[in-house]
Amino acid sequence: MIRKLQANDREQLVSIINKTDNFSNEEKKVAVELIDEAIGNPNHEYYNVFIYENDGKIAGYHCTGKRALTDGVFDLFWIVVDNNGQNKGIGKQLLDHAENFVKENKGRWILAETSSKDVYNATRNFYMRNNYSIVSQIKDFYTINDNLIVFGKYIKT
Ligand SMILES: CC(C)(COP(=O)(O)OP(=O)(O)OC[C@H]1O[C@@H](n2cnc3c(N)ncnc32)[C@H](O)[C@@H]1OP(=O)(O)O)[C@@H](O)C(=O)NCCC(=O)NCCS
Repeated sequence: MIRKLQANDREQLVSIINKTDNFSNEEKKVAVELIDEAIGNPNHEYYNVFIYENDGKIAGYHCTGKRALTDGVFDLFWIVVDNNGQNKGIGKQLLDHAENFVKENKGRWILAETSSKDVYNATRNFYMRNNYSIVSQIKDFYTINDNLIVFGKYIKT
């Protein structure tokens, strides 16, 4: 089932984040900061964290929220599945959930920013196969030879 974040989810989430091979240490730190921010403010305006749980064990999460200064564009800030539970369709269920969240909140775009690094190949394939397209790219964004790639899907109402 997919449900809202609870404060006592923190330990399992930190462990999942730290086990994610393609995240750099800095990315892990930022992912944990966002979880802490969401736990500290359950009605956070931008950070809505939803947990995929099976028999009390967390298998993944997504964090989705409205982009400031827009009236209907949402960011998928993070989507992570425990590396022991990947390739079983959990990511797709989380992505569908994020899209429904956007729909329920009368959004029109969902955007996911990612990197062009090889370690993100599987992640980019995941978005493409779920009918996201590349809506924007910025060369040498994160660092030289690491571009920003923005995937997006226009949500039909
Ligand atoms: C990207 C990510 C969230 C995808 O999660 P996932 O649970 O592995 O996703 P799914 O299982 O829905 O899909 C992954 C693949 O498994 C395949 N798959 C799904 N169910 C399957 C099944 N029952 N049997 C065999 N294969 C299956 C899908 O076809 C899919 O292949 P594709 O991506 O090449 O199209 C996950 O890989 C992840 O956490 N990556 C690290 C963190 C990251 O990069 N996050 C994004 C940036 S914040």
